[in-house]
Amino acid sequence: MDIWKPVARLAEISPDTGTLRVVHEGEAVCLYDLQGEICATQDRCPHGNASLADGYLEDGKIECPLHQGVFDIRSGKPQCPPVTTDLRRYDVRVEADTVYLKAQ
Ligand code: FES
Repeated sequence: MDIWKPVARLAEISPDTGTLRVVHEGEAVCLYDLQGEICATQDRCPHGNASLADGYLEDGKIECPLHQGVFDIRSGKPQCPPVTTDLRRYDVRVEADTVYLKAQ
């Protein structure tokens, strides 16, 4: 049976950046609001010490604030140098105004 853990209210995702950093099972996770579709990946950029929640979100992609590496949020795939590693993705469920992530 899947176990889902509440991590945030929808309204907590910044309307300015479209992102929110949360902690899920001890890991930093970034939530994204892709025009109503909520997605989640690891928050720490695999290239360095940067929080993707501080990055620039556009067209389903997040640009890292440190060296401008870009990831496709839905697939987790890197889109351009210097990033070469996929982001870990998390299953998301939204019920009423609460965002849940699946327990690992
Ligand atoms: Fe993200 Fe370098 S830390 S691209």
